[in-house]
Amino acid sequence: MPCPALPDGFDFTDPDLLQDRVPHPEFAQLRQTEPVRWIPQERGITGFDDEGYWAVTRHADVKYVSTHPELYSSNLNTAVIRFNSSIQRDQIEIQKMIMLNMDPPEHTRVRQIVQRGFTPRAIRSLEEALRNRAREIVATALEGAGPDGSFDFVTNVAVELPLQAIAELIGIAQKDRSKVFDWSNKMVAYDDPEYAITEEIGAEAAMEIVSYAMNLAADRKQCPAKDIVSQLVAAEDDGNLSSDEFGFFVILLAVAGNETTRNAITHGMHAFLTHPDQWELYKRERPSTTAEEIVRWATPVVSFQRTATQDTELGGQKIKAGDRVGIFYSSANHDPEVFTDPDTFDITRDPNPHLGFGGGGPHFCLGKSLAVLEIDLIFNAIADAMPDLTLAGDPRRLRAAWLNGVKELQVATPAKG
Ligand code: HEM
Repeated sequence: MPCPALPDGFDFTDPDLLQDRVPHPEFAQLRQTEPVRWIPQERGITGFDDEGYWAVTRHADVKYVSTHPELYSSNLNTAVIRFNSSIQRDQIEIQKMIMLNMDPPEHTRVRQIVQRGFTPRAIRSLEEALRNRAREIVATALEGAGPDGSFDFVTNVAVELPLQAIAELIGIAQKDRSKVFDWSNKMVAYDDPEYAITEEIGAEAAMEIVSYAMNLAADRKQCPAKDIVSQLVAAEDDGNLSSDEFGFFVILLAVAGNETTRNAITHGMHAFLTHPDQWELYKRERPSTTAEEIVRWATPVVSFQRTATQDTELGGQKIKAGDRVGIFYSSANHDPEVFTDPDTFDITRDPNPHLGFGGGGPHFCLGKSLAVLEIDLIFNAIADAMPDLTLAGDPRRLRAAWLNGVKELQVATPAKG
């Protein structure tokens, strides 16, 4: 009899599992024995009216699904693999207003417009301001450290730069930043009971952001400025975003650009502090390959999903039209078919064809260059200003279904004398 590949009831999207760990041994087992495997779920627990999904674990298959939107839709059930059991279908339908959950040709139109705000030139123009912000964040964290030199790296360092970067990109006025930050934080935290953020509070915060962004768009239409908002909404035609579309785009940025980068930075710091040889190497040589390896190592987005548009086949399995397919970036990024020593944190890894920013299809992360820039800037600032940081506790992990999140990481600098 073949050995069972997984214990009964094992589910890669179980928030209790991800609160505990990323299931790397189980991913490795599936990649070897059953790279595309049906994961049964109790009807209704995910917000979808079905009884499970296919787990896709190999690098090549994750890429294949991502690059074939005509076979694997982001729209039919959205790209989010699991919602709360209490969510109603109409709330899932609303999520289709954001680009992440659209298919071509709608997706192509919106993506072509918003891409204008993410050109290499646009990102380069943020660099100086973000470098100064990274330095300020690190300096403030040092000043705020307790008498024993300890502080929480997540709230004092990792949270700040991603929020500042999005505010800088959109051109949110300094006076409005704290309320926009507050809404963003409320919107993404509702899976973890510790934050006591109910789905209602999350939805309310999302509405506040949409309406703030729509007002901003209306304002810029009347009085254009030299910013991305003015660029995207300039005129109400097919080549520009409507005010509603702009509102939903800002929501997507607040969700997609915040927690992902925050967790990459936190996992990166943890990886450095638990691999001192890599930290020493970084401080000495600052390799330009570092940020990509941090994203591979951390894989902040464990998975997204697609839904099959027709009967098809993948990894030897027959996939039926309407089946949900989970693409597990965390597993792909440790596939030994692609990476030498995948379980080694190596900041000089090159080439590094990781799928942490997606599998290369039409939805490939729009903010990748911004994220890489942020990671570079913050670690440069840390290496300059607190080179002798040490770990002062284990990471406290976030309860979430598809994010590899850390909500607290105690670190310490040498005590103030
Ligand atoms: C380390 C940080 C980040 C990670 C790991 C990450 C990861 C991802 C992943 C996995 C996708 C989906 C790709 C796919 O379905 O093929 C995605 C899409 C996206 N990301 Fe990122 N992301 C990060 C940072 C950012 C930042 C900083 C921004 C913007 C400020 C951003 C904006 C977006 C947007 C708008 C999409 C949707 C693109 C589309 O649907 O066409 N991301 N990201």
